[in-house]
Amino acid sequence: MGLKILITGGLGYIGAHVCAVLHQKGYRIVLMDNLSNSFLQMYHQLITLLGEQSLEFEKKDISRPDEVKELFRKHSDIKGVIHLAALKSVNQSIAQPLSYYHNNVGGLITLLSEVKSKNIPFLFSSSCTVYGQADQLPIKENTSLKPSFSPYGFTKQVGEQIIKDTAKANDSFKAMSLRYFNPIGAHPSSLIGEWPIGEPQNLVPYITQVGIGKRKELKIFGDTYDTTDGTCIRDYIHVMDLAEAHVLGLETLFSSNSNHYVYNVGLGKGVSVKEMVSRFEKVSERPIKYKISKARKGDVPIAYADASRIRHQLNWQPKYSINDALLSAWNWEKYLHSNNDHKE
Ligand code: NAD
Ligand code: UD1
Repeated sequence: MGLKILITGGLGYIGAHVCAVLHQKGYRIVLMDNLSNSFLQMYHQLITLLGEQSLEFEKKDISRPDEVKELFRKHSDIKGVIHLAALKSVNQSIAQPLSYYHNNVGGLITLLSEVKSKNIPFLFSSSCTVYGQADQLPIKENTSLKPSFSPYGFTKQVGEQIIKDTAKANDSFKAMSLRYFNPIGAHPSSLIGEWPIGEPQNLVPYITQVGIGKRKELKIFGDTYDTTDGTCIRDYIHVMDLAEAHVLGLETLFSSNSNHYVYNVGLGKGVSVKEMVSRFEKVSERPIKYKISKARKGDVPIAYADASRIRHQLNWQPKYSINDALLSAWNWEKYLHSNNDHKE
């Protein structure tokens, strides 16, 4: 039987895909989620995809020490933790900083207090937001970090620092922070994908909802940036390739002697918002109505990764193109649309 891995935030967008890849590689899985930003239906989707016996679900909150302790008592055979549970809205974090610090930083500390002495590898989902507008492009792991625009961004910077300090103080605690660029797309089965509650805040789910007719038009946040077409440039990466990086990361922590790592995870290709719209129109054969609206506060003009460290050290080889990812996001949106009972 495979090793048992805990995925916090496992019913969220990235967690569900990590779960699918871990299962495929033979791991046993415990998902922990408080459903603050996901649907219980995602659990049923995962069961449909992976089978009844594939995972155990615990509805628990990482910021509650009693619930975290209880989980580790019940699953004393957990051999690794992939920590994705966090609140992730930049705007909401500006309006409600305390709940972001409590959830994202407090939750991390609660979890680490339980994990650090157990000799269990720990993977943390960080973000390219830690770089702000980088001085150097493509962005390398040693590109200097900038003070964050938002409490959300600070929770990722502080989270990484807490993990680094904990690893420094405990040789047996092995940890890795993955700095995701922009994950998009869905599982090839179309049974799981990005499922925002309410109005999407990220680009691709907004585009797919316009494509399906759920939203009238996309608002492009600014077209006067100093970029090829005036719209922001990002590094979009298929969520399945990102999920693969987690498994490689975990396996590295199992076998390595070093105990702290940081990796960028991106394709390394910068694509503008307008280009994403036209790529989507091409793969979906649907026109996307958009209007230019004012720039969103805190958006950096350009961010794309130098991901050579993870490619070379972990032999991570992304398999999907941006168009593959857009098509899979579109297939997922169509699936959601045709299964009305699964909709919010
Ligand atoms: P998501 O919101 O879809 O998933 C997060 C999950 O965590 C949700 O299911 C939510 O219910 C759960 N959760 C939140 N607080 C919790 C708590 N206190 N206890 C238990 N469960 C809790 O987000 P996602 O896109 O899957 O992101 C996962 C992680 O990756 C987050 O840490 C996020 O900050 C990070 N990240 C995401 C992106 C992105 O573009 N999606 C980019 C960079 C980093
Ligand atoms: C955003 C967050 C980032 C977080 C990530 C995951 C901000 C400033 N950044 O990244 O910290 O880690 O999500 O949650 O919120 N766009 C539009 N119209 C839309 C939506 C987006 O034009 O309706 C544009 C944005 O201006 C941006 C690009 O599309 O240029 C990508 O946006 P998004 O998907 O929200 O990702 P990020 O802003 O890169």
